[in-house]
Amino acid sequence: MKIKILMIALIFFACSGISMLFSDQADAGDDIVRMDTSAFDRLRRPAAVFDHDLHNETAQIDDCAVCHHVWENGEIVPDESSEDTPCSDCHGLTEGPNNPMPLANAFHVQCRSCHIKTGKGPLLCAECHQKY
Ligand code: HEC
Ligand code: HEC
Ligand code: HEC
Ligand code: HEC
Repeated sequence: MKIKILMIALIFFACSGISMLFSDQADAGDDIVRMDTSAFDRLRRPAAVFDHDLHNETAQIDDCAVCHHVWENGEIVPDESSEDTPCSDCHGLTEGPNNPMPLANAFHVQCRSCHIKTGKGPLLCAECHQKY
């Protein structure tokens, strides 16, 4: 019995190793299925659902910088991406002269404006902030 379990475990690890070899290296946000809310000090809603790679595949968004933008002198820099920088590194929690787009707004404007524009994707609070 013990040997059987060990065999199953070995096969499982071998398979996951092989599938890792063939997985797409460009998809670096693949472990995100819900938003990381650690940048917020107090939560009023459950973390929004966002299955990073599946979302972008289904929505057919190829350009990472559509969301992971880089700005300079009040304009988006074309062909540059900030994919390794969390939004919260640039968008502080509270609005101010140097932070016109505080973090929660940054998410809502980015997510919702595209859903409105494309006529697809959720717009209601509870559709994104789903209970666990
Ligand atoms: C629809 C918007 C959107 C698109 C398109 C998108 N991402 Fe993301 N990505 C996000 C959001 C939102 C997060 C979470 C950021 C945060 O919590 O600050 C994230 C997180 C990540 C992270 C983790 C970074 C971290 O700080 O933990 C990586 C890596 C990443 N994305 C890579 C990519 C790559 C590569 C592409 C293009 C193939 C891409 N993303 C396209 C929205 C997007
Ligand atoms: C490297 C810094 C940086 C990162 C990382 C960054 N932003 Fe921004 N973002 C800016 C700057 C600068 C502006 C211009 C307004 C301002 O100064 O806040 C801006 C503007 C915006 C705007 C308003 C203009 C527009 O494009 O609609 C939204 C919405 C936004 N960011 C959302 C996000 C989200 C969501 C993320 C993470 C996926 C993110 N930003 C990551 C720097 C950044
Ligand atoms: C550039 C456009 C765009 C942006 C930005 C965007 N979405 Fe979407 N989203 C879509 C489209 C298009 C769909 C519908 C995909 C389909 O089913 O055809 C969608 C669908 C969804 C869904 C439904 C389930 C799914 O994964 O398909 C959720 C949840 C969602 N979006 C959350 C978010 C969140 C959270 C953000 C911001 C971090 C965001 N979206 C940013 C275009 C966008
Ligand atoms: C398209 C998806 C989407 C919709 C629709 C949406 N949100 Fe969010 N919201 C987010 C994302 C992404 C964040 C940032 C991370 C998180 O908290 O999940 C966020 C953050 C927040 C935060 C700050 C974090 C917290 O929990 O205190 C509040 C408050 C919030 N949303 C309330 C709302 C309310 C109220 C509505 C409806 C009027 C709404 N949201 C609709 C995606 C969405």
